Amino acid sequence: MDKKNNVIDLGERGKYNLRNKLNQLTGKEWIKFTKSWFIHSPRQRNKEEILHPAKYPESLVEEFISFFTKENELVFDPFLGTGSTLLAAGSLNRNAIGVELSDKYFKISKSRIKKNIFINDIKAIKGNSSKLVELFAKNKIDRKIDYTVTSPPYWNQLERNSLRQKKRNDEGLDTKYSKAKDDIGNINDYEKFIEAQAKIFDQVFDLTKDKGYLTIITNNIFYNGRIFPLAYDTAISLTKRGEKSWILKDEKIWLQNDKPLIALGVNSAWVGNRHHQYCLIFRKEL
Ligand SMILES: C[S@@+](CC[C@H](N)C(=O)[O-])C[C@H]1O[C@@H](n2cnc3c(N)ncnc32)[C@H](O)[C@@H]1O
Repeated sequence: MDKKNNVIDLGERGKYNLRNKLNQLTGKEWIKFTKSWFIHSPRQRNKEEILHPAKYPESLVEEFISFFTKENELVFDPFLGTGSTLLAAGSLNRNAIGVELSDKYFKISKSRIKKNIFINDIKAIKGNSSKLVELFAKNKIDRKIDYTVTSPPYWNQLERNSLRQKKRNDEGLDTKYSKAKDDIGNINDYEKFIEAQAKIFDQVFDLTKDKGYLTIITNNIFYNGRIFPLAYDTAISLTKRGEKSWILKDEKIWLQNDKPLIALGVNSAWVGNRHHQYCLIFRKEL
């Protein structure tokens, strides 16, 4: 250890500065992650994971958690799905809480957690994230969230009959999360969806420590011959919430290089093959 400069040499990994306020990465690792895009190809999903229409890869969440937290801090996901965030956080020795509305996905997340041994507290809660503050109080959680990473429903995208949806339908797999009225993926009006989503992140804001970060993984949506800029509107909406406004820090693009190209609009008109998603990075700054 170089005492004068507070630096520990970790060999190949690079040098770790003991004054690092945010994470346990070396300078070399820190810089690598600040590149504005990365490629993640999810591993083959197992039988229970494939039931969920939109699971994200643990490797992707692990990278975010490693950047935005230190060991033993608290990670949160208000749209837990199959529990990927909890598994990633647990494997990195972070504490984690996730909320999921659907009983079916909640049970999948519980079963996935059970198959691991974690040294920290990993907790899945079945509930409605539109009532997050109440839910935290009911579960006696008074610790502040250090970092939230999540992927909300992409508006009511799963309702629509895209080619990919048709294939899942034919295979007998879920093409929507649930029929529940509290499932924000069932809000058909686009503006109302944006508002309902923002209201959930207002509550995440209240439950997060000052200077805590939030990453939202979402996308723009092609529907009815036009793009609904869901990722951009998500970014903008969260920054215009009065005293609960998040500061938008950046976007990081998740490139999906493993998705097959589909013949869309060929010989007729532009329809893109969307093989990327937006990871929006916000911070609470009082
Ligand atoms: C895109 S998925 C999350 C997938 C997750 N990242 C994973 O890897 O499995 C969105 C999830 O939000 C859940 N959801 C929708 N509305 C909700 C609400 N009001 N409260 C809590 N969960 C909700 C859906 O049931 C769905 O599982």
